[in-house]
Order: sequence, then C-alpha cells, then structure tokens
Amino acid sequence: MIWDKFRRQRGDEKTAPPPAAPVPEQLDDVDPSEDDDGGGVPEGAEEVANEPWRERAAAVIPGGSSTGSKRVEALYGDAPLGDTVPTHYSRARGCSLWLVDGESELEVVDCTMALGSVAIGYADGHVLSAVGQAAALGNVAGVPHTLEVSLAERLCDFIPCAEQVRFLKTGAESVSAAVRIARTYTGRDRVVRAGYFGWHDWASGADVAGIPRSARADVVAVPFDDVDALDRAVSDARGALAAIVIEPVVERLPSERWLARARQLATEAGAVLVFDEMKTGFRLKPGGYGELSGVEPDLAVFGKALANGFPLAAVVGRADVMDAARRTWISSTLAGETTALAAAYAVLDWHEREDVCATLATIGAALRSAVDRAIAAAAIPGIRTDGLDQMWRIVFDDADVERLFVRHAVEHGALFKRGAYNFAALAHEDAIGDVESAASAALVAIREAGRA
Ligand SMILES: Cc1ncc(COP(=O)(O)O)c(C=O)c1O
Repeated sequence: MIWDKFRRQRGDEKTAPPPAAPVPEQLDDVDPSEDDDGGGVPEGAEEVANEPWRERAAAVIPGGSSTGSKRVEALYGDAPLGDTVPTHYSRARGCSLWLVDGESELEVVDCTMALGSVAIGYADGHVLSAVGQAAALGNVAGVPHTLEVSLAERLCDFIPCAEQVRFLKTGAESVSAAVRIARTYTGRDRVVRAGYFGWHDWASGADVAGIPRSARADVVAVPFDDVDALDRAVSDARGALAAIVIEPVVERLPSERWLARARQLATEAGAVLVFDEMKTGFRLKPGGYGELSGVEPDLAVFGKALANGFPLAAVVGRADVMDAARRTWISSTLAGETTALAAAYAVLDWHEREDVCATLATIGAALRSAVDRAIAAAAIPGIRTDGLDQMWRIVFDDADVERLFVRHAVEHGALFKRGAYNFAALAHEDAIGDVESAASAALVAIREAGRA
C-alpha cells in the first residue's frame, strides 16, 4: 500500500529501473524476489512506531547510534529537546522515510540521503533485484565470486584513473588502504592530508581521544585549498613524502591552482596523489572530481553512492601503484561479498542508461531553489543555501535558529542535515514542492515563536 503511494508520487514511468539482467549471465538463472519492486517491509512495522527507540538505543548503544552523524545531538543539536523528536526509521523508499519514536509514524522527505550513500533512491527496484539475486546465489564462499572481477572491470571503464581495483566495505578503511599502498609503493612514511577521511587513527585530529601520538607522527594535516600550506608541508617532508591525500571538494570546489599544485608536488617528489571521492564519486561525475577537473590522481577512493547504500568501497588507481597492494597486507573477510557488489553493478546500469550525475545536479538545484524561495518568503536574516547542487547545505548564522529549523522541518515533512550536506537523489524529483512546504512551515514557526 505504501509502495503504491510511492509509485503514484514518483510516477511509474520515471521510477522504471533500467532493464532487467542487472548482473552477469549466471545470475539470470535465479528468480529475482517475487516482488521485484521492493518489499522487505518488516512485519509488524506499524507496531514499532510507539516504542521509545531513543531511550532503548541510549541504553544499549554508546552514543545511541553506531554512526556519529545519526546521533540525536548530531541530528537535532545539543540543546535540550523537550518533547520527543523522531530518531529512528522503520521504512525508507525513494526519498521518503517513515520515522518512528514514541508517538506515531511520520512520513518525511529525507534530504540527507543517508549521508550521501544513496543517490538513486531508497529501496530502488533495480538495485534490490540485483541484490536479491546475489543473495539467493550465496553471497560469500571460500573463493571469490566472478562478480568481483566483472565489477572491477566495469569500474575501470567508468573511472578515468582506474586500471585496477581493490574492494573494501567502508570509506575509512579504503582511504587507509590507499595510504598503505602509497607507503608500500614509495617505501616512505610521510602523509600530507587535507579533508575528512573517517575514524581511523592516522586520519583523526588531536581532539579525538584514544589515539597514540605515534599514529599521527608521520601525518600532517593541511587546510583545504591552501597552496602555501601544502607547499610548506611537502617541503618539510623532504625525501619522506609517501602521499598527498585530498578530499577534493569541501563545501565548494577547490581552486584549479591547488589541485594542479598537489599533482605537481606529488609527481616531483615521486609520491602518490590520492583523491578521496567518497562523496563526489558517482555524484558529480562517475569518476568524481578527478573526472570533472581533469586532474588525474594516482589512486582514488570510492564508496557511498557507488552502491546506493549497500556497504561497498573501492580503492582504484594506476596499475603500477595498485600492484603494491600485493606487497603489503590489505584484506577483509567480507570485502568481496556479492550483495554489495551486485548493488554497485546495478548502480552502474543506472549510469549507463542515463546521465545520473547531470540529473542529480538539476534536481539538487531545484531543491536548493525551493529552500531559497522559502527563506526569501520568510525574510529571516542569516539563513542561506550554499555548496554544490548535488551536495548542498543550509547555512545559519545562529545555531539556535538552525536547531529550531531542523526540528520544525521534520514535523512538517522534511529531514534536513544540520551543519552538513543535503544530498540530491533521483528520487527527489517529485518531492521539490514538499521540501519547499516543509522549509516554509518551519521558518514560519520560528518567526511566530519570535526566535528570528
Ligand atoms: C570524504 C570521506 N572520506 C571518508 C569517509 C569515511 O567513510 P565511512 O564512514 O564509510 O568509513 C567519509 C564519510 O563521510 C567521507 O565523506
């Protein structure tokens, strides 16, 4: 019934997935799940709505969530929340979430799209069909599945800098793997980094507890898009530079000069240039900002939108550099499990069938404009949108106003990301009006409360 509603909202013809046969031939012999357009709603979903999930989570999960950005304080801010806010979901479909916590089910448009890990839409029929087939064939075994090879080949066709591929599960481990490969390739230790690379020791700042100083001893953090700082860090490294690791887009595009300089410095030093395309890959372009800018890294890291929310990440790059992976130790038991590989295979179908990244830019621009209109109509100063169309932010001068906005917006039907990106998905296409209404209603509520 909910699926029918979704189909009506989205329009069948627009949600029609790429044609069947998402994964290589042998998978076609297996019947896809009977309900090819989704299913999977846990039985008794209605009953979960009235549970106090926030309290139950806090009792058994330190911080209340295994993902930092999904903790209640990250979602809604630190100030006391008073009455309940929805913190958990029971179902997600397209760009809709059904939120639950203590009261009743609340359907909202999700503008966060699971921190950018979903760019097609939740529970996409084509992706689910591929995943279901892969699961039915046995998603792991004592030898690698052929899909690992087929997907690696296909990624090399999609991503300009990719000649070889290693699969892992998360962004943090794949950037760490890229650093390990670079150190092995160069026989050197020093890493210069600019960006966020997940929670591992080498990539964490001095403010993160529990990390021995030695883990950061050979890692120098430099600011985004700062040519002088990059020059200094590379010059300080002298002959020890193994890698320059860059997140190429942080809230805005970098200057051409910065990336060109990073490329030049790495080449001159005989070091490895690594781009972390976790957020930008299969979003700005399939090959991420490296493809968009034409600056080719030696290694790059992909994940998130690559598998539309299934756990897959990949280190890709030049064959001679990637070959160093054989001379060190990078391995994970489930790296090649096939449900995530099949999800990525189905995502590549989407990209082959249409220019997904261009559509994401169009839809993202429409979402931003909708929020811009709501901000202009409310005439509350100190609020604006920025970022790129595919990954955009709502910026508030006053943190209290931001907290209230996110809180009111969810009550009125849209989940926005506090202090970070909202990510466009194909599934947002018909949700622009709902997002504008929710933003408008939230801003009116703030004005009426005399908070702005
Ligand atoms: C650029 C970048 N690198 C690495 C990571 C870490 O990825 P994961 O959370 O999958 O470990 C993220 C996560 O947001 C990211 O945005």
